Amino acid sequence: MEMEELLRRAAQARQNAYAPYSHFQVGAALLTGEGTVYSGCNVESASFSPTCCAERVALFSAVAQGERDFAAIAIVGGPEGEAPSAYVPPCGVCRQALAEFCDLERFQVILGGGPSLPPRVYSLGELLPLAFTPGTMGRKEEKEEPPCGCTT
Ligand code: THU
Repeated sequence: MEMEELLRRAAQARQNAYAPYSHFQVGAALLTGEGTVYSGCNVESASFSPTCCAERVALFSAVAQGERDFAAIAIVGGPEGEAPSAYVPPCGVCRQALAEFCDLERFQVILGGGPSLPPRVYSLGELLPLAFTPGTMGRKEEKEEPPCGCTT
């Protein structure tokens, strides 16, 4: 799937954002390895802490449908009622949540969503260096090389 199409799906999801406190609306579109798209928007709460970001809504919704293999996520956001005019990178918590399922080198984080925002693509590992992953926990089947490349 084209990056522009995934960004369009994120912009569409943003329309459902429930953000009456921050008035900052975010949409995310998560692409699986097989080409299915799961979308999410931010959902806020009057008690604030239960608020969930668009990226985790998309990720958890996909995992709840049995998905485990992800290729990319597109993120679009901005103040309510405005077209996106700045890149919205995923927060630290969402980066960590993505790292549970997504390959640090291959998984792409795509930012954009506005005419003044040509798509920018990052690997998850670029956004989450020295990540604590299932591999760090010693789960053999997912064990990765240490980020430094050393073997001890
Ligand atoms: N938010 C997201 O949905 N994704 C991000 O990557 C950053 C922040 C939401 C959370 C909250 O509802 C609002 O944006 C302001 O922080």
